[in-house]
Amino acid sequence: MTPSNQTTRFLGSLRAVRRFSDRAIADPVLRDILEAGRRTGSSKNTQPWQIVVVRDREMLKRLSELGGFAGYIAAAQVDIVLVMDSANNAFDCGRLAERLMLAAWTHGIGSNIASLFPDENARKAKELLGIPDGRWVRQTVAFGYPADEKATRVSSTPGMGALMPLGRKPLGEFVSWEHYGKRA
Ligand SMILES: Cc1cc2nc3c(=O)[nH]c(=O)nc-3n(C[C@H](O)[C@H](O)[C@H](O)COP(=O)(O)O)c2cc1C
Repeated sequence: MTPSNQTTRFLGSLRAVRRFSDRAIADPVLRDILEAGRRTGSSKNTQPWQIVVVRDREMLKRLSELGGFAGYIAAAQVDIVLVMDSANNAFDCGRLAERLMLAAWTHGIGSNIASLFPDENARKAKELLGIPDGRWVRQTVAFGYPADEKATRVSSTPGMGALMPLGRKPLGEFVSWEHYGKRA
């Protein structure tokens, strides 16, 4: 029996939420999430990032058109565009995204990553938001209180459910012990 505690169960409960309610995210709550994000560790503490917080409905709609599976940004309360110094910072970008998502989840706020692609769409997003050419933008994270209980359990972007396997590999397939492929 694996011992778990409230916090590890909480970490495991983070899911992609793509369907949001109309409830606004209060400013102090948003700032708390941003503050947690700001404290994320990075390679050599270079902090190769800035973020653009988008709340304007029109801009959210425009961003939602810039990814193959980004439509749900249109109904988010907030979308945070992760602006990295370069494409070499993709790992740091992932860490930052997860930190923001977990911080939001502590407030009961759901979120999901939306990728801007192809490159032309990422370029358009940069143009819309005035992000300098040299910066690397690929991921955004959309936030909002879940529309209902189901929003935390199933993919709700039309057409995505079938593409998206639910659940996770069992620990036995995830972990090798001491040597790759050694299962026990
Ligand atoms: C690098 C990366 C890119 C992603 N891009 C998208 C995306 O463009 N659209 C989307 O709806 N979800 C995107 N996701 C979210 C994944 O689909 C989600 O994390 C995965 O399906 C697990 O969801 P679950 O935690 O609800 O099981 C992305 C996740 C990662 C890590």
